[in-house]
Order: sequence, then structure tokens, then C-alpha cells
Amino acid sequence: MSVTVRVPAKVNVQLAVGAARPDGFHDLANVFLAVGLYDEVTVTPADELRVTCEGPDAGQVPLDRTNLAARAALILAERRGLDPAVHLHIAKDIPVAGGMAGGSADGAGALLACDALWGTGASREELLDICAELGSDVPFSLVGGAALGTGRGEKLRALEVGGTFQWVFAMAERGLSTPAVFWEFDRLTEGLDVPEPVASEELLDALATGDPDALGSAVSNDLQPAALSLFPELADTLAAGRAAGALAALVSGSGPTTAFLARDAGAAEKVAEVLRTSGTCRSVRTASGPVQGATVLGG
Ligand code: C5P
Repeated sequence: MSVTVRVPAKVNVQLAVGAARPDGFHDLANVFLAVGLYDEVTVTPADELRVTCEGPDAGQVPLDRTNLAARAALILAERRGLDPAVHLHIAKDIPVAGGMAGGSADGAGALLACDALWGTGASREELLDICAELGSDVPFSLVGGAALGTGRGEKLRALEVGGTFQWVFAMAERGLSTPAVFWEFDRLTEGLDVPEPVASEELLDALATGDPDALGSAVSNDLQPAALSLFPELADTLAAGRAAGALAALVSGSGPTTAFLARDAGAAEKVAEVLRTSGTCRSVRTASGPVQGATVLGG
């Protein structure tokens, strides 16, 4: 008996970042959109807790108890007084350390899969609570769709979306560490008056109407200067996508994956083709969103 859960990646269409808080985290206005690139987490009873991973980036995924999938199983088992003896297998298609919530997806997926396997019957509220304990982006991986995250990004409000948006993602040659990008944000904003992060009304309207042109002119990412400072070559990828006609070109979350919004699927293919031959990235994928969050596929 096993349970498989499919979990999408995310792109941040707005990432407004406030000053560092005393706990080191940053208050955010984080507008998440779930997109159709997926990891699948399969949980099977085993003699002891074990994690395996397959996929092009599998070699970069930690297989010990720091893996968010393992941590999710441990937290749920501890709350229920259960033995966390399961094999967690991750079929990974979301880039690792890419700013697309790949690790968070595995945490949310493992949590939902263990809940189903063990018949724990955890409420949505408890699952979201455990997700927030695992990491700031993990609650969104569970719910999917589109949402505004406040606090450190874990307090979610679902957003209405009036259409499907077409995206192109360019994967970079190496990863970026999220804490390092936030530290660079702190360094770049030192001595400056960092405003409170607020969601853009223009952006929320663009999502609600499903208008790609309006969304293209409203997207923003306050972490982009920090990501570019640590990884200057990303500017070439952004420029290549813009020149290919993307409505918007931005770093996804803390990066280094870059995201390009296209008017329709045909335009997305064209942007993807140009990026593939640009020599400015490792690989290119197209995906649309919003899509639903973590979903049990069967067992
Ligand atoms: O919450 P999570 O573990 O995913 O965050 C990873 C790191 O990113 C944190 O340790 C912190 O350095 C940074 N972070 C932040 N402010 C947030 C979210 C994350 O500074 N709102």
C-alpha cells in the first residue's frame, strides 16, 4: 500500500519585502501563483524512515532528516505518537534551490501523503499549521491556486484569478540559497528606509481579470536586485526573454530561476525557443497557472 501526492511549483508575481524583523525573518506581501511543474511524493510503509529522489537534479537533494519531506513525516508522527517508519520517494521535476518552492512542495506532499497513509485525518487547519512550522512557503504548496501570503509568507488569503497565465521558466546553471539572498537584501538596503510590504491593487486586479498584459506591467520582486547582485549573469537571461517578446521578465522568488510571462501558449513557445538557444541558461520549461495545490493521486 502506498500513497502518491502531486505538488506544484510556484512563481511569485509580487514579492514585497520589509525590513528584517528581530527574529531575522522579513515581513512579506507575497503573491503566489501555483504553476504546472510538479514533484510527486510517494510514501510506502518501511522498516525505518528513508528518503530517495529521482530526477535531473536528484543529486542535489539532501536525503537525511533535513529534507522537508522527512521533517513533515517526523512532525506528523510525533503529534500522533506514531512510528515514522516510511519510505518517502520524491520524483523531482521542480528545480532544486531555484526559487520555485521545490523543497516546500516535497514537505507539503509528504505531509498529505503520510496523513492519508496513516489515516490520521488531520484537519486542514492542522495541516496548514504543520506546513508553517516546516517553512514560510510550505502552506502555499498545500493550497495552490493563487494566494497572498503575509507575515513571513505563511498567512494565506486565497485570491481570485480570472484566467490562465502562460509562463516560461529558465533554470540556471547553479542554485541560490534563500537565506543568502535575504542577507544580500539586508546588505543592499542597509541604512535605507524599507517601506512596509503591501500587495499591489493593480496586480490583484490583473489576476482577477486574467489579463496577461495588465499582469505583465504589475509584477515585481524586491529580492531581484539581491539575486542579481549574487548572480549577475541572470541579467542576460532576463534580457534574452524580454527581447523574445515576454510581457514580463523577473526572478522567481529568491531565484535563480527566471520567469517570463507570455500573452498566450504560442508566444510562450517562442520565448522558450529563443531562451533555449540563447546560451544564458541550463534548461527551459513552459507551464501555466494557476493550478491546484497538493493532490492525492491514489495508492
Ligand atoms: O521559512 P523558510 O525556512 O523557508 O525560510 C528560509 C530562510 O529564508 C530563512 O531562514 C530566512 O533567512 C529567509 N526568510 C526571510 N523572511 C521570510 C522568509 C524566509 O528572511 N519571510
